Amino acid sequence: MAGSLDRAYCLPLSMLLTLLSLLSCKSILAEQNALTRLGGRFDDDNDRKLILQESLVQQVNTDLRASWKAGFNPRFLNHTVQDVKRLCGSLKAELIELDPLVQKRSYSKDVVLPVNFDAREAWAGCPSLKTILDQGHCGSCWAFGAVEALTDRFCILASENVTLSENDLLACCGFECGYGCEGGYPLRAWQYFRHSGVVTAKCDPYFDQKGCQHPGCDPLLPTPNCTKECVNNQLWGESKHYSVSSYAIAPNVHDIMAEVFTNGPVEVAFSVFEDFAHYKSGVYRHLYGNYLGGHAVKLVGWGTTEDGLDYWIIANSWNRSWGEDGFFKILRGVNECGIEGEAVAGIPFNRYARHSAE
Ligand SMILES: *[C@@H]1O[C@H](CO)[C@@H](O)[C@H](O)[C@H]1NC(C)=O
Ligand SMILES: *[C@@H]1O[C@H](CO)[C@@H](O)[C@H](O)[C@H]1NC(C)=O
Ligand SMILES: *[C@@H]1O[C@H](CO)[C@@H](O)[C@H](O)[C@H]1NC(C)=O
Ligand SMILES: *[C@@H]1O[C@H](CO)[C@@H](O)[C@H](O)[C@H]1NC(C)=O
Repeated sequence: MAGSLDRAYCLPLSMLLTLLSLLSCKSILAEQNALTRLGGRFDDDNDRKLILQESLVQQVNTDLRASWKAGFNPRFLNHTVQDVKRLCGSLKAELIELDPLVQKRSYSKDVVLPVNFDAREAWAGCPSLKTILDQGHCGSCWAFGAVEALTDRFCILASENVTLSENDLLACCGFECGYGCEGGYPLRAWQYFRHSGVVTAKCDPYFDQKGCQHPGCDPLLPTPNCTKECVNNQLWGESKHYSVSSYAIAPNVHDIMAEVFTNGPVEVAFSVFEDFAHYKSGVYRHLYGNYLGGHAVKLVGWGTTEDGLDYWIIANSWNRSWGEDGFFKILRGVNECGIEGEAVAGIPFNRYARHSAE
């Protein structure tokens, strides 16, 4: 099982990291990444089988513990396990290694939060909150989660309706963010918004003129080159939108909820297993199947079912033909698949307001 394989790599990995901590931060990340890939992702015949399996659907749908329904999502018809692994491009690293000065934002316990909250309704005038995108065949989820949440936040906090470019981040952040279509670090994406800004999707679209997902018409297309040129005659520098801060959110339910309630959606990452590709509706929790990789997504709200089950509401980047019209719910309060462990965000630069030091 890939899951146990993964754990088997934990010990040598931590030993190696200790040795490597004598070297530079960059090389630690590179080594860790190489090892993570070998441990968690490089597999065998299992990788070549189709991801959607009738047996797994049966297992989930007849399991009394299941709080969700499984089925064949059209998005993954003809996709192999390997194809879906490639989409899970959120790399894991200690926050302190990614940014020694990282802020961990937390909120007073006195902040009163509603029982149900959905950012799509709270900021109904912001159309991007309801958008679902498709990352194509590229492991760019780390860029999608970040750019989608920042786009929402420009509308929520800076009164600016703009659609920002995943492609800028994917192509131009380079090794600082990770490995492009081979995966990246969500926190580093938010740091990029602060020091380099991000252009609009009109300037640098992810999709090409043919409507083909670029990169992604073919599973093997590489990370796009960074050209720093707009396709719409705008100047690259003038199309840039900056954030004034980037931070991690303390890894617990209250702080993540307070952050979303105050500032809008955040980017979160979690472990994806084979059953998740079959998610159709309900509150997901992992039940069956092997580990596929880390995946970054955008958290937009929370609630509780009639049966008293707490959940998060999350936007995925696997098209509307996956899950609940592109969204999913996942168990809240038990750090299911690590969902509460790695929330990151930032505050957009508001051109209409004077900024106090963030
Ligand atoms: C993605 O969604 C669009 C509609 O939003 C649909 O036309 C298209 O077929 C979907 N693609 C896949 C691969 O499911
Ligand atoms: C899946 O593959 C089959 C056979 O190769 C083909 O007929 C079918 O159109 C494909 N479906 C999709 C959604 O690509
Ligand atoms: C953003 O666009 C929506 C839909 O076009 C509109 O209703 C809303 O007022 C706009 N918000 C801002 C801040 O411009
Ligand atoms: C990037 O540029 C190099 C050198 O010009 C070229 O060989 C390569 O095909 C380009 N890659 C993409 C994805 O366009």
